[in-house]
Amino acid sequence: MNRPYIICHMVTSLDGKVTGKFLSTPQCEKATDLYYQLNRDYKADGFACGRVTMEGSFTGGWYPDLSEFEPSYSPMDFLTDDIGEYFAVAFDPHGRLGWQSNRIIDDDPGYGGAQIIEVLTHQVSRQCLTYLQSMDIPYIFAGDTEIDIEEALFKLKAYFGIHKLLLEGGSILNGAFQRAGVIDELSLVVAPMVASAEDKPLFTDAQMENYSLEDVQYRNDSLWLNYKKNG
Ligand SMILES: NC(=O)c1ccc[n+]([C@@H]2O[C@H](COP(=O)([O-])OP(=O)(O)OC[C@H]3O[C@@H](n4cnc5c(N)ncnc54)[C@H](OP(=O)(O)O)[C@@H]3O)[C@@H](O)[C@H]2O)c1
Repeated sequence: MNRPYIICHMVTSLDGKVTGKFLSTPQCEKATDLYYQLNRDYKADGFACGRVTMEGSFTGGWYPDLSEFEPSYSPMDFLTDDIGEYFAVAFDPHGRLGWQSNRIIDDDPGYGGAQIIEVLTHQVSRQCLTYLQSMDIPYIFAGDTEIDIEEALFKLKAYFGIHKLLLEGGSILNGAFQRAGVIDELSLVVAPMVASAEDKPLFTDAQMENYSLEDVQYRNDSLWLNYKKNG
């Protein structure tokens, strides 16, 4: 396989939603704890999230003043010498994420210390590239206006040696991976909650596809479902 093996790992509500207030209720805590435990148990080479999830979980919406940076000369992939072994892959088509370190800062060993990689399109500004270079954050281009998932995954394996990658939301990024047909495994922790009408499904704009149930476990008062893609 010329791309990483992809496991979409998510907490879902009883009605298959993955965003919204239900995630921060006390009733969801045990499912969330199991989710983080499974994240560590998978021993993947990294995790990937969409721009909105990265903002909510790690950058808090901070962004640098790009007027302080000269435009970079060439929009080419940028690799750093100091490449880690565990990666946080940010799918950030417009370069909207403001990082204050090139590693994730988090107490959870499933996230903390992960080397950040930015996946960009050619819509990103040249000043943003200079900023990322100044932070020693590697970036790759995949697509002109929309992220080409297959190209991104090919580069993640070829450049960084990522063989196993956890896809950890949100709904929009999961949907893009699902439509690209690259989700090999599903790991779903079901929280005992029904979500609100406006909350988003596991995959935005999904296409029909079939998976086989591989494992079911009752752990930490929660249900864990594991599926593998057929064929
Ligand atoms: N239940 C769980 O386990 C779980 C896990 C993670 C996150 N979440 C929840 O998910 C929510 C966020 O999900 P979300 O669906 O709104 O956003 P998301 O998937 O996290 O991020 C979407 C953004 O990613 C960028 N993007 C990257 N590649 C893309 C592509 N191929 N196609 C389209 N956009 C692409 C776009 O950024 P631009 O807008 O900059 O173009 C897009 O708006 C949060 O509320 C979080 O709590 C839940």
